[in-house]
Amino acid sequence: MVKANGRRMQYIVLLAGVAIGVLAWTSSLTAYSLEGNVHAGAGSPVSQAVDNCVACHEKRSDDPASLFKNSTHGRTKKTCSSCHGGDGSASDKASAHSGRFIGEPSSNDVLAMCGACHQTALAAFKTSRHFPEHRGSSRVDCVRCHGAHTVGSPSRSFSFASYCAGCHGLEYLPGLPVEIQKTLSMLDDLSDAIRGSESKGRALPAEQLQRRKEIRRSIADIVHPTDLKGGLLKAAEVQERIRDLSQAVK
Ligand code: HEC
Ligand code: HEC
Ligand code: HEC
Ligand code: HEC
Ligand code: HEC
Repeated sequence: MVKANGRRMQYIVLLAGVAIGVLAWTSSLTAYSLEGNVHAGAGSPVSQAVDNCVACHEKRSDDPASLFKNSTHGRTKKTCSSCHGGDGSASDKASAHSGRFIGEPSSNDVLAMCGACHQTALAAFKTSRHFPEHRGSSRVDCVRCHGAHTVGSPSRSFSFASYCAGCHGLEYLPGLPVEIQKTLSMLDDLSDAIRGSESKGRALPAEQLQRRKEIRRSIADIVHPTDLKGGLLKAAEVQERIRDLSQAVK
C-alpha cells in the first residue's frame, strides 16, 4: 500500500472537489485524459440536461445504454463520456464522436480510462502478475474482470471463481490455492444472495452495504496486485466476514 500511495502522490488533481487524475507518469499508456470530459462531469448543467449519447444509442439494438443504466456507474450518474469522451451535448454522430473520443479502447486505453477515477486499483494492478510487462502472459485487464457497461451488475451467470479457473488450472497455469478459490466462491454466493434479496424488493440496509464495501476492498487488495501470499494469510478472516454478511442478507 505504501507503494500505491507513493504513486498516487504523482497524480495531478485537475479539479477541486472532483478527483480526476491524469496519469502523467505512465509512459506506457496512450496519451488519454479526462480533461476533455470535465465539462461532462458533475455540476455541468449543459450535459446533465441532455445526454445525446444515450438518446441515440438507446435506439440501437446492440444497446449498451440500457445495460449501463443498472450498473454502478449508471446509478452514480456517470455518463458515456466519463469513459468514452466525445461530446454528449451534440446530436449528430460525427460531432458526438469527436474530440477525445475513444470508440474502441485498446487494453492500454482501458487502463487509462478506468484508472483515471480508480487510481489505487490501477497502481495495484500495475504491480501484478496480470500486467503483461512482467512476462509475455495473457493480459487480464479491468474490463475482462468487471465488464465495461455492467460494472457492479454483471449477468447472473458470471462467477469470479469460474472466470479465474478459466485460466488458472488449465494447461500451463497451476490452479489457484484452494483457500483463494473458496474465497471467490463464497464471494459469488454472497453476490447471489444480495441479488436474490434485491429482486424481492429488499435493498440492503446501510450497515450491510458498508460491510459489502469493506469486503470488496479487501478482495480487491488481494486480487489487483495478485498477492497470493497476502490472500492466503487473510483468507480465513475475509471468509468469515463474507459468511456473516451472507447470513445476515438471507
Ligand atoms: C446520432 C447518433 C449517435 C450519437 C449522438 C452518438 N453515437 Fe455513438 N454510435 C452511433 C452509431 C450509428 C454507431 C455505430 C458505429 C458507426 O457507424 O460508427 C456508434 C458507435 C459508437 C461506439 C462504438 C465504437 C465505434 O467507434 O464505432 C461507441 C463507443 C460510441 N458510439 C459512443 C458514443 C458516445 C460516448 C456518444 C456521446 C458522446 C455517442 N456515441 C453519440 C451513433 C451515435
Ligand atoms: C466505465 C466506462 C464506460 C462507460 C461509462 C461507458 N462505456 Fe462503452 N465501452 C467501455 C469499454 C471499456 C468498451 C470496450 C469493451 C471491451 O473491450 O470489451 C466499451 C465499448 C462500447 C461500445 C462498443 C462495443 C459494445 O459493447 O457495443 C459501444 C457502442 C459503447 N461502449 C457505447 C457506450 C454508451 C452509449 C455508453 C453510455 C450509455 C457507454 N458506452 C458508457 C467503457 C465504458
Ligand atoms: C468518472 C469516474 C469513473 C470512471 C472513468 C470509472 N469509474 Fe468505476 N466507479 C466510479 C465511482 C464513483 C464508483 C462508485 C464508488 C462507490 O460508490 O463506492 C465506481 C465503482 C466501481 C466499481 C465497484 C463496483 C460496485 O458495485 O461498487 C468497480 C469494480 C469499478 N468502478 C470499475 C471500473 C472500471 C472497470 C472502469 C473502466 C471501464 C471504471 N470503473 C471507470 C467512478 C468511475
Ligand atoms: C486470461 C487468463 C487469466 C485469468 C482470467 C485470470 N488470471 Fe490470474 N494469472 C494469469 C497469468 C498468465 C498469471 C501469471 C502467472 C505467472 O506469472 O507465472 C496470473 C497470475 C495470478 C496470480 C499470481 C500467482 C502467483 O503464483 O504469484 C494470482 C494470485 C492470480 N493470477 C489471481 C487471479 C484471480 C483471482 C483471477 C480471477 C479474478 C485471475 N487470476 C484470472 C492469467 C489469468
Ligand atoms: C483478475 C480480475 C481483476 C482485474 C484484472 C481487475 N479487478 Fe478490480 N476487482 C476484482 C475483484 C475480484 C474485486 C472484488 C469484487 C467484489 O467484491 O465484488 C475487485 C474490486 C474492484 C473495485 C472495488 C474495490 C474498492 O476498493 O472499492 C474497483 C474500483 C476495481 N476493482 C477497479 C478495477 C480497475 C480500475 C481495474 C484495472 C486497473 C481492475 N479493477 C482490475 C477483480 C479484478
